[in-house]
Amino acid sequence: MFEWKEEYETKIEVIDTQHKELFKIANESYALLKNDIILDKYDKVVEIINRLLDYCEYHFSTEEEYQLSIGYKKFLSHKVQHEEFIKKLRDENLKKMDENQDEYLMNILEFFMKWITGHILARDMDYVQYARTLA
Ligand SMILES: [Fe+2]
Repeated sequence: MFEWKEEYETKIEVIDTQHKELFKIANESYALLKNDIILDKYDKVVEIINRLLDYCEYHFSTEEEYQLSIGYKKFLSHKVQHEEFIKKLRDENLKKMDENQDEYLMNILEFFMKWITGHILARDMDYVQYARTLA
């Protein structure tokens, strides 16, 4: 279970809603992965992880538009972070896994959430701070 914490809140409604949605999809995937009753769950898990990546791309574009709208100076380096992260995960090619499917998918989910939360706390909070100076 990936737990949402108050410290992740940016107080920008659209951003917080989307960040929470990422947690929701990741937890859905996690729950399915932990479910030992459903056989042949891997296709479904892969599908949800792909949905997570799609939503993440959508979310990144929202953030980038927002940053442009406030004239955030570190927009480009932030965008590069987003792009490299998505590329790395897309290159994983989830269908290729063979052994230890549980462990493999769990590692991807954990990597995803670790990156996202670290990114929210360091990078996102930086443009949030900048936005506050404009208010
Ligand atoms: Fe970001």
